[in-house]
Amino acid sequence: MMKSIAIYNNKGGCGKSTSVINLAYEFAAHSKVLVIDTDGQSNTSRFFIDEPKTYLEDILLGKGGKINTEITRYDNISIVSATAAINNAVGIFSGFSDEKQSAIADKIVNSNSDFDIVIVDLPPAMNVVTAHIVGACDFVFVPVELGTFAIQGIPKVTDVIASCKARFGGAFINKFDKKNSADVALMQMFSELMGDKALATTIPYSKVIKNSISFKTTAREYMGWTNAGKAFGQLADEIRERIGG
Ligand SMILES: Nc1ncnc2c1ncn2[C@@H]1O[C@H](COP(=O)(O)OP(=O)(O)O)[C@@H](O)[C@H]1O
Ligand SMILES: [Mg+2]
Repeated sequence: MMKSIAIYNNKGGCGKSTSVINLAYEFAAHSKVLVIDTDGQSNTSRFFIDEPKTYLEDILLGKGGKINTEITRYDNISIVSATAAINNAVGIFSGFSDEKQSAIADKIVNSNSDFDIVIVDLPPAMNVVTAHIVGACDFVFVPVELGTFAIQGIPKVTDVIASCKARFGGAFINKFDKKNSADVALMQMFSELMGDKALATTIPYSKVIKNSISFKTTAREYMGWTNAGKAFGQLADEIRERIGG
């Protein structure tokens, strides 16, 4: 059965798009994956295809039909991309009844039975469109870049997830620096605060992850023999287990 997850945090730069890209790649080793980019900044779209076109906009405006997806350079990964044009659609969409909004969001996420896993990338600020798309997903996972404010902000993030009527699947640490004693202490706080919602996998801060994206490859393709190159594989396995996918 198809499973859908969204990657969300209201902080920019914590690694949402990086996680979506690398998780999609790892899932694609065993599954047919659909990436849905809802961020008008198009970072994830541009990673996968040269010229993103906003098909999402048409469907948001209720122009019927099956949603258009585009195959990427990876056989098992397709995408619904986002461009800045998506921001125009948000205003019109907001005029629809809540029922219609939910039905459209559900169609975007769940109508494509060709895929095993749908993974949604989000902008930092929720809008009426992203809120309904998150609500249509089975689970939401949250990347956290450690910092006192980031940890204090987690309850706000889980509140937003709940207000979208979505299920919080868990949070994971990204950009972890094991040589930084502050990060080690904050990781302890994170584990205590999150309990069983803390994923065991921690993604290290690494040039492998940072540079791979610049070269338009995933961390595993770039340096799969390193810990950083393998980290998203572990995370994908853990998420798969949590969602029963
Ligand atoms: N684990 C990591 N190690 C090093 N750099 C990272 C890591 N994760 C993300 N980055 C870098 O941090 C920046 C922000 O990441 P991004 O995925 O775009 O965040 P978001 O989508 O949440 O705004 C990018 O330059 C990315 O390459
Ligand atoms: Mg992003």
